[in-house]
Amino acid sequence: MSIPSIDLNNGVAIPQLGFGTYKLPPADTRDLVLRAFEAGYRHVDTAQMYRNEREVGEAVAASGLPRDELFVTTKLNNAFHAHDDALAAFDRSLEALGLQRVDLFLVHWPLPAQGRYTEAWAALEEIYASGRARAIGVSNFQPHHLRRVLAEGTVVPAVNQVEVHPYLAQDEVRAFGAEHGIVTEAWSPLGRGAVLGDPVIAEVARRHGRTPAQVVLRWHLQRGDVVFPKSATPERIVENAQLFDFELPADDMVAISALDRGERTGSHPDEMNDTGR
Ligand SMILES: NC(=O)c1ccc[n+]([C@@H]2O[C@H](COP(=O)([O-])OP(=O)(O)OC[C@H]3O[C@@H](n4cnc5c(N)ncnc54)[C@H](OP(=O)(O)O)[C@@H]3O)[C@@H](O)[C@H]2O)c1
Repeated sequence: MSIPSIDLNNGVAIPQLGFGTYKLPPADTRDLVLRAFEAGYRHVDTAQMYRNEREVGEAVAASGLPRDELFVTTKLNNAFHAHDDALAAFDRSLEALGLQRVDLFLVHWPLPAQGRYTEAWAALEEIYASGRARAIGVSNFQPHHLRRVLAEGTVVPAVNQVEVHPYLAQDEVRAFGAEHGIVTEAWSPLGRGAVLGDPVIAEVARRHGRTPAQVVLRWHLQRGDVVFPKSATPERIVENAQLFDFELPADDMVAISALDRGERTGSHPDEMNDTGR
């Protein structure tokens, strides 16, 4: 199986399919990430907040795969937007992951009430300049947060990782990203399972002889977004990677896109202000 890549705005290639690790059982995380590598995934998405960087790093080491064949993303936790805190937190991530560098480092949430995300961004720019992150980006940024980063920063974020699934199409955020060369990464691409029982998706899946999850993930890929479905179930890890031998016709894409109802499974970025402190 060959997973296509997308070129980020600095030329770094990101595999369009990755493996999500939020809420994987800690005791099983190493083995599940290894299972994902066996199934062909080469991209893994973790975060300081998930408290599993160490287990992800153990899987990377145990896989025996050449480092340059793997794409590892982690994210700055909410308590560390102050410049020096961000640099120190990044050092701890590298140590936990057991890596010299990550492929992508993100500001996890903008936390607008705290108002320090451009300070955090300046720290990420330093990390990028040092070569210890091959690309840097943001997560959960609305266009008005991105405008500030573009105005005050010197590096254009490579990605914006936001909640996207058929019940939350995110047309405005995705269009802003496309206009500025910022790739959209779709978190909770399956809506944490909420979209999988939808009758429209079930019908498209039936006609293509695929599962609802495969159809939804294929919809994301054909829209050009990066996805990293999470599963703690070995069979689903394999199922979620079998996406590259079929294509949804335009009418199915339109029918799935029409399911948008602005429904979030997670927090709204303008309202999320929990620093965890
Ligand atoms: N930047 C952010 O703020 C942010 C926020 C949330 C998530 N993320 C990232 O995005 C990743 C994915 O999002 P997510 O974990 O929230 O949700 P998700 O991937 O949309 O959905 C995961 C849920 O769907 C189930 N599932 C997976 N594959 C399935 C299949 N083939 N058939 C039926 N059910 C299936 C999983 O169950 P089992 O595990 O029991 O199989 C789990 O309950 C995260 O792991 C994380 O890396 C980022």
